[in-house]
Amino acid sequence: MGSHDAEISILVTDDGEISGLNKTYLGRTGPTNVIAFPMREGAFTNISPDLLGDVVISADTAAREAEAAGISIEERFTELLVHGILHLLGYDHERSESDEKEMEKKAQDVLRLLKGARGRQKSPVIQRQKQHQTDSAGAYKMAKLAVNVDHIATIRQARGVDYPDPVAAAVMAQLAGADGIVAHLREDRRHIQDKDVVRLRETAHRFILEMAATPEMEKIAVRIKPDLVTLVPEKRRELTTEGGLNLLRKKPGVFDTVSKLRGKGIEVSMFIDPDPLQVKKALEIGATAVEIHTGAFCDAPSPKKRQRELDRVREAAEVAHGLGLTVNAGHGLCYNTIQAMTTIKEIDEFSIGHSIVSRAALVGMDRAVRDMLCLIRGH
Ligand code: PXP
Repeated sequence: MGSHDAEISILVTDDGEISGLNKTYLGRTGPTNVIAFPMREGAFTNISPDLLGDVVISADTAAREAEAAGISIEERFTELLVHGILHLLGYDHERSESDEKEMEKKAQDVLRLLKGARGRQKSPVIQRQKQHQTDSAGAYKMAKLAVNVDHIATIRQARGVDYPDPVAAAVMAQLAGADGIVAHLREDRRHIQDKDVVRLRETAHRFILEMAATPEMEKIAVRIKPDLVTLVPEKRRELTTEGGLNLLRKKPGVFDTVSKLRGKGIEVSMFIDPDPLQVKKALEIGATAVEIHTGAFCDAPSPKKRQRELDRVREAAEVAHGLGLTVNAGHGLCYNTIQAMTTIKEIDEFSIGHSIVSRAALVGMDRAVRDMLCLIRGH
C-alpha cells in the first residue's frame, strides 16, 4: 500500500453506532458501511506518525451489502477494510474523478493481492457511498417517530379502572424523544376514550388523531384540533385496523370529512395500502399526507415476499413524495422490522404503537421509545 509499518485501529460496530459517529463527526445522518478517521491530517500529522488512524465498519451494513452482492461477509468486510485503510493513507475518491480512479485501481490491486486472484470488476464500496451521498444531499433526513398510546388504554379498559393513563405514557414517550403522540378514537371506544383525546391534545407537543370519516368524529376533531388527523377505515369486529382506505371506491364521506377538516385548518392524512393509485387519489381528494400501511410487509411469510412488500411501500412512498405529499408509514412495525423501513428515505414519520407499548410493559416506556428511536435514527 506504499506505507511503512504503521498502526491502525479497527472498530467493527453496528448501524446504530456508526450512525452516531456519522452524525457527531461528519454531520451525516444514517448508517454507512465504513468510515475512516485519519490521524495523519492537519494538526495531528506529526503527533504520532506511526499511527494511521481508525477504520470503523458497520457489520450490519456489511452483511446487507454482502447479501445484495452475493458474496461472503468476510469478502465484503475485506473490501471495506481496504477502502478505509486507503482513506487513512490519503486516497480520496470524493476529491475528483481521477482520484476516484486512482483509489479504485489501488483497491483492486490490493484485493487481488489478498485474494491471489482477480479482484471484482468494480468495488461496490464507492458505488454505494455515491448513492448514499446523493441521498444525503437530497431527500435523506431522519424519520420521526410518533408513538401510538392506544394499548396503554387497552390495559386500563381491561379492568375498567383509571390506570395506566395514556396521557402519562404520552408524557414519558415525549420525554424519551418521541416526535408525536397518536391515539385512535374508535366508534366503539374500546381503548381510547373521549376524555383521553382532550387531555392528549393538551399534553402532546404534536398530537395525531386517528379516526374514521364519520360526522361524530369530525365534530370531535374540529373541537380538539389535532395537529394531524389520519383517516382510517374502521370495522367493529376487527382486532386492529385491517387494511387501508380504498379511495378508488366512491366514498363521499371521506371527501366531505377531508374538506371540512381542511376548511378548519387541520392537516389530513389518509391511511392507504402501498398502491400508487391510492396515493394519487388521496391527493385528488385533498389530503396533505398519506400513511402507508406497512402491515403486509411486517406479516410477510417469507424473505422474498417481504422484499416485494418493501418494494411496494418504497414505490408508493416515492410517488407520494414526488406529488408533494408528506409520507408517513405504520402498522405492525416492531423492533425487527423498522430498520428495513428506514431505508425508504421518503418516509417522514413512523407511527408505532403495539410493539412499543408491549416492550414498555417489560422495560418501561422511556427505554422502549429510546430503543425504537435508536433503530430509526441510529443513536
Ligand atoms: N397506523 C394506523 C393507521 C393504525 O391504525 C395503527 C394501529 O392503531 C398504527 C399505525 C399502529 O400500529 P401498531 O400498533 O401495529 O404499531
